Amino acid sequence: MCGIVGYLGLNEKKEILLDGLQELEYRGYDSAGIAVIEGEKLNNFKALGKLENLREKTKAYHTEGFGVSIGHTRWATHGKPTELNAHPHVGAYSYVVHNGIIENYQALKEELQADGVKFLSQTDTETIVHLFEKNNKTANTVFSAFEETIERLDGAYATLLITEADADTIYFAKNGSPMLIGFNGDDVYFASSDTPIIGKATEVYYLEDGDYGYARQGEVKLFDAKGEKTFTKQALTADKVSAQKDGFRFFMEKEIYEQSHVMGETMMGRVLDENIAFDELDADFFKDIKAIKICACGTSYHSALTSSYLFERLSKIRCDIEIASEFRYKEPLLTDDTLFITISQSGETADTLEALKMAKRAGLKSLSICNVDNSSIIRESDAAILTRAGIEKGVASTKAFATQTMVLWMLALYVGQEKKSISKEVLKTEIEAMRKTPKSLLVEEKLHSQLTRMSKRYLHGHGFFFIGRDIFFPLALEGALKRKEISYFHAEGYPAGEMKHGPIALADSTLFTIALMPKTMHYEKMKSNVEELSARDATILAISPEPFELADDFIQTNYDSHPMLEFFEMMVVTQLLALEISVRLGNDVDMPRNLAKSVTVE
Ligand code: G6P
Repeated sequence: MCGIVGYLGLNEKKEILLDGLQELEYRGYDSAGIAVIEGEKLNNFKALGKLENLREKTKAYHTEGFGVSIGHTRWATHGKPTELNAHPHVGAYSYVVHNGIIENYQALKEELQADGVKFLSQTDTETIVHLFEKNNKTANTVFSAFEETIERLDGAYATLLITEADADTIYFAKNGSPMLIGFNGDDVYFASSDTPIIGKATEVYYLEDGDYGYARQGEVKLFDAKGEKTFTKQALTADKVSAQKDGFRFFMEKEIYEQSHVMGETMMGRVLDENIAFDELDADFFKDIKAIKICACGTSYHSALTSSYLFERLSKIRCDIEIASEFRYKEPLLTDDTLFITISQSGETADTLEALKMAKRAGLKSLSICNVDNSSIIRESDAAILTRAGIEKGVASTKAFATQTMVLWMLALYVGQEKKSISKEVLKTEIEAMRKTPKSLLVEEKLHSQLTRMSKRYLHGHGFFFIGRDIFFPLALEGALKRKEISYFHAEGYPAGEMKHGPIALADSTLFTIALMPKTMHYEKMKSNVEELSARDATILAISPEPFELADDFIQTNYDSHPMLEFFEMMVVTQLLALEISVRLGNDVDMPRNLAKSVTVE
């Protein structure tokens, strides 16, 4: 989760880079850096932490005349957030910035080290610049050295390279991570999304996977595996806010649509062919751990609850879940063979942070699963796993929940693997299913428009019960929370089998039941529970791959091979339903009344 900006032309380069990076800072603020070549002069600045530190460091620096320049704001993946690990990374005479992960960097690094190359950082990115300089010793042209470099990279990347060997050129390549080229007369811009160049470039070309090439003043040459490629520029919008929303009406909507993509980032480098890897965890992290306790609030609590089923089922380890504000005052009995996990999107939630401090005081080992690096919860924990969802602006959490749940699913497999409590076959099946998750999160236009139409029938009623069994119970809780948060209607998530023990007394035609009916898990039992409600005249919205004749409304999901795939697909349905109801009610979708994105008070 990083941001890239590049510029080639006559204007003041430092300001263009810093202003552009400011737009991307939400993508990561562990460190930032710029590199500029003007004539023979090469300048490079890096600063740890927020961009304002880099601004301060470059206060006295100004550029003049024609030059090439690249900049980067970092969200650490490989290597700690330090100045040495900040981009641009330097070789003997070249600089590189990069987003994504070079999966074969270790092998490339060893090869280069065997040739005597000294690495300054712990990053995967640094291999690109050294590999380029190695190739440049033998290649006919600087461009073919770059081409040979790109050919050797596995994984996802968007990268820019500048070099004194060809000082008026920017080399670029894109595969899996976003990048675009902006144009304005002879000036050429690069960025990992369009907001940094709005108001500067007038036209744009969005690079496709496999595209690479070079830019000089007034000239951009583009190639892919088939050779040189012609490309068509398109007009660039001048509206920054709508660009930040990528054309979506609301940040929440954008974030729902982003889930498929960010899930790829969450899994990158962690879901391997036959095992799960967490570079963040020492080899013996789980050695003396016999139980897990998880504390969280709100949506994060729901992902925790989902994982309690997965930990016990897949890793055979005892797992308890607590709402952080309850845990704090219950005088819990804690033993030091328990791993204390906190889950938080923001990393700043006061109740979760205090619960963590309590557990630490009791001598427990701690792990946080969090979306914001360097946040208080991460700093307080012994170890941390980042969810890599990117900034979440909608107050009602969507992609943070999806990625938290994925990290926890991966962690359940990891624990099983480390404790040898999961068989090779089960691990294989789980990993295969995991790889299909991004697909199950894709939003189909047909589904979205069906939910838009359907939402008009859910603008009244005296109650909404979201019901499910097993992992679909926490999902029901989360569906109900979305409904409450942005439509201000009373909604509850309930275990389907428990409805008959009280809530069924509420059933009538204006009690709406949203039934999560996966085919891969307890389908028949769930069906009976819904039939009981239907018999009492409750209005039923069934979400299932299997047509259900008692449903008043029906959303058909796909027949998936694994409950977690059904889970993620149904999660998208509940998110979109809440969104469309809120839109019809005219509510503020992104900033609902009375709520805050990060609750730093008890
Ligand atoms: C607030 C937000 C919720 C969030 C909860 C926990 O209430 O409105 O969306 O789930 O805090 O936040 P955290 O950042 O710790 O996940």
